[in-house]
Amino acid sequence: MVKIAPSILAADFAKLGEEIRSIESADLLHFDVMDGVFVPNISFGLPVIKCVRRVTELPLDVHLMITSPIHFVERFCDAGADIVTFHVEADSPENIRTALMAVKGRGKRAGLSVKPATPVSALEPFGELLDNILIMSVEPGFGGQHFMDGSLQKIAEAAALVRALGTSCDIEVDGGINRDTARLCIEAGATVLWPGATSSRPPTGTLRSTY
Ligand code: DX5
Ligand code: ZN
Repeated sequence: MVKIAPSILAADFAKLGEEIRSIESADLLHFDVMDGVFVPNISFGLPVIKCVRRVTELPLDVHLMITSPIHFVERFCDAGADIVTFHVEADSPENIRTALMAVKGRGKRAGLSVKPATPVSALEPFGELLDNILIMSVEPGFGGQHFMDGSLQKIAEAAALVRALGTSCDIEVDGGINRDTARLCIEAGATVLWPGATSSRPPTGTLRSTY
């Protein structure tokens, strides 16, 4: 069963608790943390994760679009994140490996993401540490973009990598997800889809019933 993790980036933060309750039918909640340096946008950080943790039992899947995630991953774990995913482009290979191990050391799931221009092969050195791989199907930084069709090949490559590793690593896809692109992503091997909660009510039931 493909899991749906709506991104709260488009939520109305003036009534975030109500918005979260309105999408309790989702499988996970997706939090797009942006630092204005790694991506040309700033979103939110630790206080939001801490507050949302108090109002839902859903797994919190935190997508760190930040430089040097090594400095923050443990604080996001302690704030309530269940899954912490960051970008392979965001630091040196040594620090990326250390950050992955820090997340796992907190008993949480650790994932790496690749921007559209970064090949899936960049993830191979970390393969045995990955609980999820995140394929960005848009340039990270903003919701509401169009799905990049070249992502489908990368999803298939990521699925082949996971098969070669023999692990239960999830293949997640993020950006421009709708009914049509979701179906293509699933056919290519995706196991988790991250649609923007544009109306703060993702078509979770619809998506699930459709797929
Ligand atoms: C973009 C974020 C995505 C985005 C999804 O940097 O990582 O999660 O919010 O929104 P849509 O589905 O509108 O592309
Ligand atoms: Zn995201």
